[in-house]
Amino acid sequence: MKIDIVSVFPEYFEVLNLSLMGKAQDKGLLEITAHNLRDWTHDVHHSVDDTPVGGGAGMVMKPEVWAECLDELLGLGAPAQQESSAQAEAATMQPPATDAHGSAAAPVLIFPNPSAPLFTQRDATELSHAGHLLFGCGRYEGYDSRIPDYYRAQGIDVREYSIGDYVLNGGEVAVSVMLEAITRLMPGFMGNPDSIVEESYTGEGALLEHRQYTKPAVWRGLKVPDVLLSGDHGKVDRFRRDEALARTNDIRPDLIKALDCKALDKADRKT
Ligand code: ADE
Repeated sequence: MKIDIVSVFPEYFEVLNLSLMGKAQDKGLLEITAHNLRDWTHDVHHSVDDTPVGGGAGMVMKPEVWAECLDELLGLGAPAQQESSAQAEAATMQPPATDAHGSAAAPVLIFPNPSAPLFTQRDATELSHAGHLLFGCGRYEGYDSRIPDYYRAQGIDVREYSIGDYVLNGGEVAVSVMLEAITRLMPGFMGNPDSIVEESYTGEGALLEHRQYTKPAVWRGLKVPDVLLSGDHGKVDRFRRDEALARTNDIRPDLIKALDCKALDKADRKT
């Protein structure tokens, strides 16, 4: 999967070279490039923002700079012909991005935005099959709303997502969160793929996960539930499923309300 990230703080994304995401890049599963939006400016101050039309506090990111950058990274050509050598380098001959099945894939352009729909596990799962993701990180009071409108009108798959009901200083952390949720679902990313099958928010009947224990069976007077030591896999599965249902009901009743009845089994209906 090819991943381009545009930000005025591309250094934020150096952490993506660590741990599993770093290994996935070494294996060739991911190709991540963080670009500096200011490379597409033409003025001496490299300015990317301006005051909001209609008044108000803060600054809004200018559409012209974003458009030069996104046209180039999306391969839309047009005004990006008179580019600087830094921009030319960003556009060096890369093989076309491919999706999870190895065929050339249309890019998905994603803007983190606190005023957008919530990013969910369902979105992460869908995007884990994409061949090319392009993230645009807003700063200040955000970006000119005509930017996503324009690229949608060009036929690009444009998404805007919030990662939660709170406001961050910019989109960089939100992009890191989304990227981790997406890439760990790619085939070949996890050492043990089973570990993502049983997780919270996965599948049709999204439930919070049951509690986890390891050895010793008694620690500082606190015992692991007996059933988990019984060796009876049927009973263990039932216990974990009941616990997941009860925890979800207590902590996230909204998920219980959203449950598809088809995702419940007969024994669930008795509990
Ligand atoms: N930018 C600032 N806050 C954000 C949020 N909660 N989600 C996505 N992008 C953001």
